[in-house]
Amino acid sequence: ENVLFVASECTPFIKTGGLADVIGSLPQALKQNEQVEVRVILPLYDEIAEEWKSKMEYLTSFDVRIGWRNQETTIYTLKYNQINYYFISNEYYFTRKGIYGYYDDGERFVYFSHAVIEALDHIDFKPDILHAHDWQAGISVVLANILRPVPEMKTVFTIHNIKYQGMMPIDIFEDFFQLDREHIGGLEWEGMLNCLKGALFHADKITTVSKTYAEEIKHPYYGETMDPVLRHREKDVVGILNGIDIKEYNPLTDPYIAVNYRSARSKKIENRLVLGEQINFEMDLDKPLYTIVTRLVEQKGLHLVKAIVEEFLRDDVQLIILGTGEYEFEDYFSKLASWFPDKVSTLLMFDEGLARQLYASADFLIMPSKFEPCGLAQLIALQYKTLPIVRETGGLKDTVNSYNEITGEGNGFSFTNYNAHDLLHVLQYSLEIYHRDDHFQQLIKNVNKSQFSWKDSAMEYRDLYEQLVPTPIYG
Ligand code: GLC
Repeated sequence: ENVLFVASECTPFIKTGGLADVIGSLPQALKQNEQVEVRVILPLYDEIAEEWKSKMEYLTSFDVRIGWRNQETTIYTLKYNQINYYFISNEYYFTRKGIYGYYDDGERFVYFSHAVIEALDHIDFKPDILHAHDWQAGISVVLANILRPVPEMKTVFTIHNIKYQGMMPIDIFEDFFQLDREHIGGLEWEGMLNCLKGALFHADKITTVSKTYAEEIKHPYYGETMDPVLRHREKDVVGILNGIDIKEYNPLTDPYIAVNYRSARSKKIENRLVLGEQINFEMDLDKPLYTIVTRLVEQKGLHLVKAIVEEFLRDDVQLIILGTGEYEFEDYFSKLASWFPDKVSTLLMFDEGLARQLYASADFLIMPSKFEPCGLAQLIALQYKTLPIVRETGGLKDTVNSYNEITGEGNGFSFTNYNAHDLLHVLQYSLEIYHRDDHFQQLIKNVNKSQFSWKDSAMEYRDLYEQLVPTPIYG
């Protein structure tokens, strides 16, 4: 099968979150299977480094009509790690600073989808399947289904986060979509045009990034109003767990960390000392190190942390927080560091190198998300032998098993309800286990065996593609 990924971000070119990691690594995993060829199409943001832009080749130009404007559109291509990438360049929409956050984001990504569909006539690749990710690519599914640019092409839509939906006033429909009015119904939701809803309505198959999240979003608590739509399409909704690139996230070879290691705990201590020097924080080697590495947003359960962390800090522990995000959390965690200068360090930045050093140095990763479609931080933490402490939701539930003292099973710690004291108790329990060496050793042993590569999940995508477009049998 020929598969075209449509997405708004992709490592190593441009990233705000986990979506980029998945778009960057899944095609690499699918490539192992000769029957599947994946290519990826992305917007060409200003923000993409010159290093990449200078390697791109001009492919073709055409106009895309949206609103009253004709948008001059140019496609560049780049081959990287044996994958072909297409980049859609347009002066008006994609030469701004950053990626998202503009008043006309809806319009920008409707344009992107129009350009993707138009590009199908101009590129040297005929997809059997158009596989779009998150709302920014959602309208490409809608247009593919209605306009049939490649008549037999099927569509897959993957939900990485259902909270973001791409909503616009309904009266822009004729201007931006140039479709018959009868198609409003598929796009409309609660009186607005909704890019995510359009994709859920039109896609041949809907996937999301863990089995548990696939179930959760059929309920109002997690569905962000889309639960009726998902219940309606139930038989076409599947959960396929994300993997990570285990060659990339490997403490034995990671170039970002000071001391490479396989599993020895003494090496974590060495990494911790180097990191402490670097960030000017005195590491207390007798105390366990907890870390939070995340976008500082409500989704990540930070209200729970806020409610109990000061109480937890009465214990002999240290905590380092790394990330950027909402003012409320940036402000709070900065203050926390000034209240507990010996115990807490807050680094308000996004820095891949520091993140890796933290995974390599810490004993525990705290990730009590309110919801979590998959979550990648806990998977990376496991690679670095850092024990995840999570709430049992979405992909966290599918990847972390709470330690069971009786059977000796488990690769981390977890709690069920969105409740701050449940988090506090599990944090205190993790500390207790840390000091009971036989249990702690057992946990680390389990973690050494717990690995989430793309291998199995890539097969599941492959099977899904195969269901939609069976490989012809010759002979
Ligand atoms: C989003 C989700 C996260 C998921 C990632 C990749 O960022 O919030 O849970 O791991 O997408 O699918």
